[in-house]
Amino acid sequence: MQKKILDILLNADDFISGQEISENLGVSRQAVWKSINALKEKGYEIQSVTNRGYRLVSSPNYLNESSLKSHLHNKIIGKNLIVLDSVDSTNDYLKKLGNNGCENGTVVIARGQTKGKGRLGRTWQSKKDDGIEFSVLLRPNAAPSEVSAITPLAGLAVCKAIREYTKLDCVIKWPNDIIVGKKKLVGILTEMSAEFDAVEYVITGIGINVDHTSFPEEIAFKATSLLLETGRHIDKNEFLACVLSHIENEFVKNNLELTPTALAEYTDLCATVGRSVTFQRGTRRISGMAVGVSEHGELKVMMSDGTICLVNSGEVTVQGIY
Ligand code: BTN
Repeated sequence: MQKKILDILLNADDFISGQEISENLGVSRQAVWKSINALKEKGYEIQSVTNRGYRLVSSPNYLNESSLKSHLHNKIIGKNLIVLDSVDSTNDYLKKLGNNGCENGTVVIARGQTKGKGRLGRTWQSKKDDGIEFSVLLRPNAAPSEVSAITPLAGLAVCKAIREYTKLDCVIKWPNDIIVGKKKLVGILTEMSAEFDAVEYVITGIGINVDHTSFPEEIAFKATSLLLETGRHIDKNEFLACVLSHIENEFVKNNLELTPTALAEYTDLCATVGRSVTFQRGTRRISGMAVGVSEHGELKVMMSDGTICLVNSGEVTVQGIY
């Protein structure tokens, strides 16, 4: 009932009377009034004026389905949308849905995660409502070796969305961190379920630091948030809709491949290219100069003897960044 009333208020251009809502939903005006009060308690600002009715002034600034849907116009990514209060990890939750056959483009969002996962076995920690943590499931008709562009395309999309929405000059630290200056704003973790020659699904999990004002000691030197960088709180639902729209756009336009255009855009925004980097090969740490990104998303590193080494995973330290 609250959800139905919220939908009515979200779609109304002006005041709408309690009488009209009650007739519309076939419930008493008393019931409408009660639900309105419950919505106000949840943080919705609803103006009520005698003889005119109710008008939604603002939605609470936490992720919620109604508000997100009112901003989202995608055809695939987020058509099936699940917003959770709290979950262990949106990637793990979506894996279960994936195993049960959920549709291509399903998105799971959580206001808080209790066991958020990072790359290379690390954790991703964020207080409830501080960040935007979500996962996107795709069912590409492809072999495991053919889906390597999904993560860089997602990184490119998120980077473009942040630049557009906040005007921050953020860039990509290969393979998929988004940074401002020398500090990380976004992390991406992609996981896959596949048979030998066919992908069942790919899950791309994205964590964006939004309202954080502090970080755990061990990452404080290299982490930042949109609030710390811009000094402003953003509308999380509107911003996430913008991010999802960029993700759909990059995925569809590039047919899940690093097309020449996508690769050029990615390379342009990649702060790693043109810098000295250090990476691990077996037991050795190797240094070289990052000179580009391959069509499979690998980092091209030029060694001191002029040969090119392709790096496709693991931790790369970039001189002057982290
Ligand atoms: C990294 O930089 O190490 C990757 C971090 C990925 C975090 C996101 S938050 C949403 C999704 N769910 C998870 O458990 N992890 C990813």
